[in-house]
Amino acid sequence: MKIQIINGPNLNLLGVREKSIYGDSSFEAYLEKLRGRYPAVEIEYYQSNVEGEIINKIHEVGFSFDGIILNAGAYTHTSIAIADAIAAIKAPVIEVHISNVYKREEFRHNSMLAANCMGVIAGFGMNSYRLAVESLLSE
Ligand code: DQA
Repeated sequence: MKIQIINGPNLNLLGVREKSIYGDSSFEAYLEKLRGRYPAVEIEYYQSNVEGEIINKIHEVGFSFDGIILNAGAYTHTSIAIADAIAAIKAPVIEVHISNVYKREEFRHNSMLAANCMGVIAGFGMNSYRLAVESLLSE
């Protein structure tokens, strides 16, 4: 099984950025643990702060991978282009968020992407990614 994790803008700063909201682990450190937990699953990781690069990655893996776990960061709330990319591919996409976006500012309550995704997991810290892996595995 091949899963692609895609993190969007500012998520390269996990462990440094707003630790009270996003925790103090870097994504790379978390990824090592996640890969260790699922040795039989090929988990690829990509991060970009650029909307078009995220779209290119979705196109690149969207016809060959078994699933995509996407934390599009703030683009979640704005990007019709990423929503269209998700609709264009074959692989199921799970939208994830580290924080519980529904407990936060109102502009974070709306997702442009969710309707094109298999489901949404939000508010479980880094565990949101593991729960997304679990849901792809149980498909
Ligand atoms: C986020 C929530 C978004 O609203 C925010 O813009 C992020 C991170 C999360 O993982 O909680 O950058 O996607």
